[in-house]
Amino acid sequence: MKVLVTGADGFIGSHLTEMLLAKGYEVRALSYYNSFNNWGWLEQVSAHPGLEIISGDIRDPFFCRKLCEGVEQVFHLAALIAIPYSYVAPQSYLETNVQGTLNLCQAALDAGVSRFIQTSTSEVYGTAQYVPIDEKHPLQAQSPYSASKIGADAMAMSYFHAFKLPVTIARPFNTYGPRQSARAVIPTIIGQIAGGAKTIKVGDLTPTRDFNFVTDTCDGFIALAQCDAAVGETVNISSNFEISIANTLELIKELMQSEVEFVTDAQRIRPAGSEVFRLWGDNAKMHRLTGFKPRVDLRNGLQSTIDWFLQPEKLASYKPQQYNL
Ligand SMILES: NC(=O)c1ccc[n+]([C@@H]2O[C@H](COP(=O)([O-])OP(=O)(O)OC[C@H]3O[C@@H](n4cnc5c(N)ncnc54)[C@H](O)[C@@H]3O)[C@@H](O)[C@H]2O)c1
Repeated sequence: MKVLVTGADGFIGSHLTEMLLAKGYEVRALSYYNSFNNWGWLEQVSAHPGLEIISGDIRDPFFCRKLCEGVEQVFHLAALIAIPYSYVAPQSYLETNVQGTLNLCQAALDAGVSRFIQTSTSEVYGTAQYVPIDEKHPLQAQSPYSASKIGADAMAMSYFHAFKLPVTIARPFNTYGPRQSARAVIPTIIGQIAGGAKTIKVGDLTPTRDFNFVTDTCDGFIALAQCDAAVGETVNISSNFEISIANTLELIKELMQSEVEFVTDAQRIRPAGSEVFRLWGDNAKMHRLTGFKPRVDLRNGLQSTIDWFLQPEKLASYKPQQYNL
């Protein structure tokens, strides 16, 4: 089967591309166009006869139409994802995440695809009103990023209701692992410890998260794409395990045998109304529909991530000392 992965140049998309190729799919992988012809993390994915890399921009509907021609399924992951950057450039989130999703839905409809996987995020729920968070939990747009993903999900689902585009909304909770950008807490801490830091600046350590190793998130995507009962549904991809950021950092320290000290930095604290204090995802619907359950627990997933970051050539592609928006 030939599938399209948008955001294939990114963290999750590059792993998904590799997993799909390994399972025998043909993959058309979208890399965000730039004049350097840099393919992001796809640069590290080995050449494969089933892999076709195309550069472009999902904000362009003419490009999206060509991109979707001849594919059977679409895994739509391309997005702007950093919450802090969404405070300073919200218009670009609207254009990429909402308009870009609309362009792809229309192009996928015209191409007659058999499935469109829309990538959502647990950020759309905002701070938990109850736990674990199931798919019926209210949506709270606590950041422009969250608002843009709520809009993108709604646009995709409207194409299911109005035009019968076979949409599934996959809603991953926080995902971590090799290749994640240093904007996220786990890679930035591992990268700085690996770089020999004695103190590390951090934001609020009290919020809790439901962390998922990247291969589990990708397995979840593929399980949903193979499940007919998931058409028209929104489904969490989560571990059903909650941990505070503070305890996560302590676990990283322990695994890396580090004595590093964490120091609060006001620049990294989100505006009070925007901080999502609690995320813990219910994965019962995913299990009921697909039988899928995550396989990698936090300790093992962190160890694999640390092992990857400790390779000097991998660490060299990061700027861990710098605060990345
Ligand atoms: N990382 C997480 O914890 C997490 C959790 C939940 C959901 N998600 C979602 O998963 C998806 C992938 O996230 P990620 O963590 O791999 O982020 P990422 O930033 O590594 O990947 C996103 C990719 O989209 C591409 N992109 C951005 N604008 C584009 C445009 N206009 N045209 C074409 N490509 C464009 C970027 O080049 C980037 O590589 C996103 O939709 C994100 O919202 C991520």
